[in-house]
Amino acid sequence: MRIKNICCIGAGYVGGPSMAVIAKFCPDIQVNVVDTNPKRISQWNDKLLSNLPIYEPGLDEIIKKCRNKNLHFSTDIEYQIEKADMIFISVNTPTKTTGIGAGKAIDLRYVEASSREISKYATGHTIVVEKSTLPVKTAQTIKDILDATKNDASILKSKTFSVLSNPEFLAEGTAIKDLEDPDRVLIGGEDKEAMNALVKIYSNWIDKNKVMTTDLWSSELSKLIANAFLAQRISSINTISALCEATGAQIKDVALAVGMDKRIGKYFLNSGPGFGGSCFKKDILNLVYISNHYGLFDVASYWQKVLDINKWQQERFIELIVKKMFGTISSKKIAILGFSFKANTNDTRESPAIYICKKLIEEGAFLKIYDPKVNNEQISNDLSENKTTKWICCQTAYDALEDTDAGVFLTEWSEFEFLDWERISSMMIKPAWIFDTRLIVNIRKVKESGLNIWQVGYGN
Ligand code: NAD
Ligand code: UGA
Repeated sequence: MRIKNICCIGAGYVGGPSMAVIAKFCPDIQVNVVDTNPKRISQWNDKLLSNLPIYEPGLDEIIKKCRNKNLHFSTDIEYQIEKADMIFISVNTPTKTTGIGAGKAIDLRYVEASSREISKYATGHTIVVEKSTLPVKTAQTIKDILDATKNDASILKSKTFSVLSNPEFLAEGTAIKDLEDPDRVLIGGEDKEAMNALVKIYSNWIDKNKVMTTDLWSSELSKLIANAFLAQRISSINTISALCEATGAQIKDVALAVGMDKRIGKYFLNSGPGFGGSCFKKDILNLVYISNHYGLFDVASYWQKVLDINKWQQERFIELIVKKMFGTISSKKIAILGFSFKANTNDTRESPAIYICKKLIEEGAFLKIYDPKVNNEQISNDLSENKTTKWICCQTAYDALEDTDAGVFLTEWSEFEFLDWERISSMMIKPAWIFDTRLIVNIRKVKESGLNIWQVGYGN
């Protein structure tokens, strides 16, 4: 089966970059990314590449090369579905906020809406690929929806579907690198011909040995578990950061010593303000929900603890900041350095900065916020606070730190490594504190400049 037209439903952090990379390596395939959000689509089509809706290193070059050649962005969902031989579902899968399973289960409304659209408008044989992260067994729901129109007399052309699971493992900030050289590509399914068609697409740039095929349920579940294991490592190292602070051991050395054991591995052992991002929390909540659903209550509470520790780390940072600043931050000015949930992305979803900033504001502080990629509008949406009275957005780290009692580093942007601490010290209100939750600043230079410093995982 030769694929000529791909449609991707959802032009977000996954749909956009993943389809751009397919377009780059498969010039013979027309890739059409569609979305119900016209603003997002017009940003993808913006002539000025700095206006793309997503900041992701390397993405702009691919867009420049492929856009309007074999990569297209539109809101023309019906037509693109009709034309496609293969359709990726890359829509958002947030946690339900109301009804049964609220706060835990995945809200499948966007997946269901996409499946209904595919069922209605697809023609001939269509391979439908789950790219979104989905609860195990969702492929069955998709199949049931797709098949509902099969015998509909009003639909003249016969249509058939194959459903595959092809979860995405990219991380934001390194999305293009992850897509171009992934650790593995996972394809779950039952229809060998459809699976081969997808394997063939990936083999245009990925070694076949890295493409793993499984049944549908193993593929769906593996994605959730991969995220759960990654998040678990962060919660583990964050518990040890507190132990280091209490004992005088140094978190970086402990992480290095532990990670040098090949069985443990060196990655994902950076202690910080807890994991953010749109997926870890929602995917673990979902894992907890599924485990409870199957009566595996001990399994559920084991994974719930990973989330509890994440919250605990943020709570203890807030308490620590207040304690170090003589027990009150009321009417004090605090600079916030970094607002995105990690470096090299403009994404703020579930960013630890949101919770920490809200709590500092609640304690009475005035915040001066700087992030190299997150704009004022986004911060305003996230904090839902009256800008002028509680916080302001600054253009540089120096602007943010000027005339403040403390600076709190919440994202590991590399520019924070190279700050001029003599200059900063001369601008801050003394005695001033630097709280480094990411181990990003030059501790020696901060100390030499006469400022007080606290770093995560160090009892200084
Ligand atoms: P996103 O919110 O950035 O993008 C989803 C897009 O889907 C939105 O633009 C939305 O308008 C669109 N959409 C929703 N319903 C639609 C419909 N019926 N028709 C057309 N468009 C529709 O989400 P995302 O971050 O790209 O995540 C998408 C999925 O990928 C989620 O399941 C997520 O768990 C998974 N995932 C995300 C990442 C990541 O780094 N963000 C990585 C791996 C997997
Ligand atoms: C994560 C996974 O890494 C991806 O494999 C997965 O595809 C994706 O979720 C998803 O399903 O959405 P992402 O959330 O983009 O990717 O970024 P990560 O690099 O995993 O970072 C997540 C959070 O953990 C960030 O807040 C980051 O600062 C934090 N983190 C990460 C640490 O605190 N310490 C670490 O050592 C690593």
